[in-house]
Amino acid sequence: MQDLSFSTRLLAWWDTHGRKDLPWQKPRSAYRVWVSEIMLQQTQVKTVIPYFNRFIGQFPNLRSLAAASTDEVLALWSGLGYYARARNLHKAARTCNDEYAGNMPATPEGLAALPGIGDSTANAIYSQAYDHPAVVLDGNVKRVLCRHGAVSGWPGKSSVHKALWEMARSKLPTQRGADYTQASMDLGATLCTRSKPACGECPVQRDCKARLSNSVQDFPAPRPRLKIVEKSFHMLILQDGNGRILLERRPPTGIWGGLWSLPADDCGRALDQRFAVATAELESLPGLQHQLTHIKMTITPLLAKTNQLAKRVECSAEQNWFSREQWPELGLPAPVRQLLDKYTNQSP
Ligand code: ADE
Repeated sequence: MQDLSFSTRLLAWWDTHGRKDLPWQKPRSAYRVWVSEIMLQQTQVKTVIPYFNRFIGQFPNLRSLAAASTDEVLALWSGLGYYARARNLHKAARTCNDEYAGNMPATPEGLAALPGIGDSTANAIYSQAYDHPAVVLDGNVKRVLCRHGAVSGWPGKSSVHKALWEMARSKLPTQRGADYTQASMDLGATLCTRSKPACGECPVQRDCKARLSNSVQDFPAPRPRLKIVEKSFHMLILQDGNGRILLERRPPTGIWGGLWSLPADDCGRALDQRFAVATAELESLPGLQHQLTHIKMTITPLLAKTNQLAKRVECSAEQNWFSREQWPELGLPAPVRQLLDKYTNQSP
């Protein structure tokens, strides 16, 4: 049964308390909403805003994004993380440009067929861009619904996800699709927060099952513990006579897929077999720890500064010598940037 009272209360709350000056809301276009939703997939609003503004400044429309090189796109994404998002966004822009005459699909199904856009993101774009109500289930919305319906089980589990999707569908309004999507997210982000939710101010508190049973903190159920994998590897810092550093492009899938990085021996072959550098020329530097979502890395940097190095190393298409001035334009992984800042200088 459709519960219109939920959306009515939520929209009335949003009219007074919601966020209405986010950069992708003014002006609201399918392209701008799409870029924002991809950036917001794993990143908070306040982090995304400056990246969004820079990105839109450089690529104001779909055609300009489609015409850009992958490196230009990754450079503007550098620091946001989860770089597959940027590569998929770029690929999808090219698909729209080549196959849909520069337009984005205007249906959730068409949007979901593009790389990097799942069902919830497709509906988030569709509802905001075309102002049609559609089910959106990001982390914030799932938390609200788990609490409101006292839904047990981890929301990442498919049966729980399905139940939440149905619940969300039953609460959709008949109008104001764009505002309702934003309102649902805003409620989770500002009142129904993970810790210390402000239940007293919540517009849907009166029928919130978790609140009524005094068990708000029990929802949503946590994710079963992730197994953390430990990886140790070397990274080679080769600096030539002009202070340039040898970087190579990572394989398209896996850790830092497609990014420029220092040569590392985590891809299978030992570094001394790939480069004409004798062990005696290498200085072993203190190790560096870096943690990704489920990988704990220990990186041991090896440094060689040699005038003749650039002549001895024959670069493949996936390798190049880059000067310090060029680094900011490349989407370098955070620990690589850290190592270069710490251990290299303008001239050896
Ligand atoms: N997370 C994903 N989309 C969002 C949006 N439009 N506003 C706030 N947070 C979001």
